[in-house]
Parts: sequence; C-alpha cells; structure tokens
Amino acid sequence: MTADALTMDKIVSLARRRGFVFPSSEIYGGLGSAYDYGHYGVLAKNNVKARWLEAMTQERDDIVALDSAIILNPRVWEASGHVAGFTDPLVDCRTCKLRFRADDLASAQCGRKPSKHPGETEECDLTEPRRFNLMFETHLGPMHETADKVYLRPETAQGIFVNFKNVLQLARRTPPFGIAQIGKSFRNEITPGNFLFRTREFEQMEMEYFVPPDEADRWYAYWIEERLGWYTRYGIRPGHLRVREHDADELSHYSKATSDIEYLFPIGWSELEGIANRGDFDLTQHSEHSGTKLEYVGPDGERYTPHVIEPAGGVDRALLAFLVDAYDEEVVAERERVVLRLHPRIAPVKAAVLPLIAKDEQMVSRARSLYEDLRRRHVVEYDDGGAIGRRYRRQDEIGTPFAFTIDEQTLEDDTVTVRDRDSLAQKRISIDSARAWMDDALERPWNTPKAG
Ligand code: GAP
Repeated sequence: MTADALTMDKIVSLARRRGFVFPSSEIYGGLGSAYDYGHYGVLAKNNVKARWLEAMTQERDDIVALDSAIILNPRVWEASGHVAGFTDPLVDCRTCKLRFRADDLASAQCGRKPSKHPGETEECDLTEPRRFNLMFETHLGPMHETADKVYLRPETAQGIFVNFKNVLQLARRTPPFGIAQIGKSFRNEITPGNFLFRTREFEQMEMEYFVPPDEADRWYAYWIEERLGWYTRYGIRPGHLRVREHDADELSHYSKATSDIEYLFPIGWSELEGIANRGDFDLTQHSEHSGTKLEYVGPDGERYTPHVIEPAGGVDRALLAFLVDAYDEEVVAERERVVLRLHPRIAPVKAAVLPLIAKDEQMVSRARSLYEDLRRRHVVEYDDGGAIGRRYRRQDEIGTPFAFTIDEQTLEDDTVTVRDRDSLAQKRISIDSARAWMDDALERPWNTPKAG
C-alpha cells in the first residue's frame, strides 16, 4: 500500500480492533493522548526494545546497559539545563480558550474555524508567547507544603550521565564506550497527538556514546548510519527513511549538531529518532554542579572530558513506524485482506498452530502437541475458533508470519502445511522438523516485497 493512501485512522482502528493499543482510561472518557497497550501491543513493543538492546549490547563489546531511576535528585535537572531551558513557547487564545505552540501555529487549527490557523481570523485574540516548562513536577514525601519538589524525567539520558563514573570504574571501560538505557520519560507536551507519535508519557531508548573529543565527528556520522541500518534491518523501507540535519537555530541547548532520522508517517515526514553530538556539555555541567570530576584518566595520566554522541529514539514512535510500514491491504481470491507485513522478529506472534477441523480429536491432539513443542522457544498461538480462512485473516492482521495447519494428511504421513503470511505460499514439512524450521526461519535475513 502506498504511503499517501494510508491514514493514521487505519492504524488506530487496526490497533484497537486487534488489541494492540487502547485509549487509556476509556471507561472514564479517556485522557487526552494517553494509551494503554494490549496483549499484542506489549509483545510487539517488547520485541522493539529487545532488538534495540540486542543491537546495542549483545552484538557489540563497547556498550553496557543501565536502568536508572525515573525521579532523580532535582539538581540533576538544574545542571542539565532543563529547569531553565526545557521549554516551549506557548500562546493562549482569549477567544476560543485554546493553547497553542507559538512556534508551530502553521500546523495548529483555530478553535472556532478549524480550516484556519490560530491568528488567521479577526476573531483570534492571541496572547504574547510565554515560555512553558515541559517537565512534570511532583513532590517527595507526604506533606505537600514542606516536601521537596522533584521532576519526572523528560529524557533517560541524564540518568546515564550521572552514572558515568560508576560505569567507567566498575565496568572498566575506555572511550569510546557507550551506556544504553530504555525507560519511561514524561513531557507535559502542549500539543500531543497523532496517536502514539506524541504523548505525554512515552518510552525512550537512548544510548550515550563517550568518545575522545577529536573523534566526535567520526562517531556522529557512524551512529547516524548504524541507526538507519537498524530500522531497515527490521523491515522499514529505505525509501521511507531520510536524514535531516538541524539548522543552527533548531539545536537543543546541549547540542553541537543533531540529525533526525525521519520517517514518512501518514502525517508526513517526521522525526523518528535524533542523533546528537552533545559535545562535553553534560559531563562538564555535572562535574561543576556536583563537584565530582567526570573525566577519563588514561593509564599514562592523559585526562580529558569525553564528548558524547547520542542516538535517542522513542519506543512508541518506533512501534508506530513499524506498524505503518507493515500495514497493507490487498485483494486475494476476491476478498480484501488486511495484513501487517511485520519483520518476524518484531511480530508479536511468530506462528499460529491451526487444526483444520476443530472437532476432529486426532487433529486437535496433534495440533496441541505441536503447539506445546513450539511454545517452549517461541511466542506461538493455538487457534481453533471458526473457519480456517477467518483464522488466517486474524493472524494476518496481527502480523503472524507463519501458520502451521494440521489436516487429514497429517494423520496419514506426519506432515503439516506451513503458510507464509506474505506470499501466501504453502508447503508441507514433517511435523517433527517444525521446531527446527521455525528456529531457522526466525534467524534468516528477511526480505518481504513491499510496495513503494
Ligand atoms: N535525550 C535527547 C532527547 O530526548 P528528543 O529528540 O527530545 O531527544 C528522542 O527525544 C526521541 O524520543 C524522539 O526522536 C522520539 O522518538 C521520542 N519522543 C520524544 N518526545 C516524545 C513524545 N512526546 N511522545 C513520543 N515519543 C517522543
């Protein structure tokens, strides 16, 4: 399906229909731009995180993992510049009482005339822009008045910087080395929206790569390529990805250079992940504010503050891109099918096991024992509900790459059919080899033809 024909509504509807993502607290009328993940959403999101952590740690020798607290000492956020500088300019409209990002009025809609942008009609009465800090505040301790004000972290990165010394000493690392972390972040976004694209509570996957200062440019270019390669390796069409370098006036307060990997979402080209050259900003700031020197001292006494290259992606936004890129509609045997052509290692369920006739005890027994065998290693689903065609369609919609069907011939010669989600080709293999066949299928490079 071509990118311009796919709407976000189709993705939202499939995600809901098949139990990937629900609007949060729906029975109370929901909460703006907050979502809950259902069974398949959890499985797929966990796969995105697992593939990222694998690429960062298991497949390399130079990066270690970390899981830092969400609520840090508030001085961390003073040092990082977030208390003073993590703000968006906002304007209020005195007429429609809505609030807009002052730097993005062109993509906002006037509350009274949705075909116009705020400020375009004479009725609009906008205030002067004010700076609005995006950090959520809360309080430590039971007494609100006397308790310490703390923040829910707006990025996972700072938890990494404040652990730099621990990792340097205890993991015995020498630059270049990295620290990778996945976890929730919170931002009081003025204009959340577009489903999972921009929410106030989301997960990030960030890696801070500490390098000798004179190697920073080289590693910056390296990580842009690495991260692009990760998305295409897991099935995103190269033509739906591009790199956009930030202009000087767009750069965050900490950044010397930033490039966004953009994806062609149904809302147009938008940021999927940012790769930043943060220079020595963070380690220097934390050294000054904490009084603890955060630097590298080599065996010969050479000392320097490493520079940092940071690939920072969003888990939810990446999952949205995987879903969008995988979504397809086609007509097969005069019936329309919706299929998610997800990479098998991202797909929530790897295979379905289907007895052709659910009332046939022998078929059910063979199917159950194949299912028990496969589930020891893989997430597989046993499904005997309804006509076989409907069961295939259900699996297609959640992106299950393979289906094993147990039929009459199985009872005669111990073979099953394997159906390929993308080509719809079916072949017979011996039931005893099904587990090895699956192990192999999930390891093979995967290349499904996608349009566009
Ligand atoms: N530490 C750098 C940093 O946080 P960022 O560009 O603000 O950089 C990194 O965030 C990534 O986190 C984004 O590319 C996006 O994928 C994700 N992200 C940021 N804000 C988000 C939001 N409100 N909702 C969903 N994902 C978000």
